[in-house]
Amino acid sequence: MNIAILGGTGKEGAGLAARWALVGHSIIIGSRDAERAKTKAAELREQTKKLPIMGESNAEAARLGTVIVVALPAQGLAATLPAVREACHGKVVISTVVPLTFGGPRLFTPPAAGSSAEEAQALLPDARVVAAFHHIAAHELSETEHAIECDLLLCGGDASAKDTVAELARSMGLRPIDVGPLSNAGPLEGITAILATINRRYKLKNSGIKITGL
Ligand SMILES: NC(=O)c1ccc[n+]([C@@H]2O[C@H](COP(=O)([O-])OP(=O)(O)OC[C@H]3O[C@@H](n4cnc5c(N)ncnc54)[C@H](OP(=O)(O)O)[C@@H]3O)[C@@H](O)[C@H]2O)c1
Repeated sequence: MNIAILGGTGKEGAGLAARWALVGHSIIIGSRDAERAKTKAAELREQTKKLPIMGESNAEAARLGTVIVVALPAQGLAATLPAVREACHGKVVISTVVPLTFGGPRLFTPPAAGSSAEEAQALLPDARVVAAFHHIAAHELSETEHAIECDLLLCGGDASAKDTVAELARSMGLRPIDVGPLSNAGPLEGITAILATINRRYKLKNSGIKITGL
């Protein structure tokens, strides 16, 4: 599959890119600066020894991708997504975005829409937004020689879009678990605030979650 990663120069997007490239997907790293994307793509080609990883502006990446991953900071959504609205028409858009504010009175700071995924859906009304990958730490993704010991919780309003994301999760060895409609994205994103706190308290880089009883 052709996967475009907006903000793919960051740790989370680059980690997803490496994992997917290694199992045969084609990757387009997106950035506000096409040159930065090309440099990151070259690094990832070197790391993975896989060729189909290219770098483009976010707009061009969104145009080329079959599936679009939004791996931007929460505060970057309003500035980035309106310009890719047409390019995302009808496409599966995966939001990995977690609205966290470090150093303030409250770590989890969701937008007025309820969650970053719902904000993304409002900014991309013709796309099929699925919220996923919030609990898979960039550190885990980048250690590509290890399997990831974590479930992949995902939610969204379009069943076939969720099937696509579940397949992409399985392709990198994760067990996907459908946790319902996009209105559950707030609680889903909020779990990351708990994981970030666990990481800090127990000096970890990669706490994750597994659902029991399934
Ligand atoms: N890091 C993790 O372990 C982790 C785990 C789960 C979920 N997440 C979530 O995944 C998303 C990406 O995480 P990350 O750690 O990779 O983030 P990041 O490094 O802070 O940002 C990713 C990329 O977004 C672009 N960017 C930065 N500020 C921007 C702005 N104001 N407007 C538009 N683009 C901007 C930058 O790319 P260019 O400068 O090249 O445009 C940057 O490389 C976040 O929402 C995060 O909460 C992260």
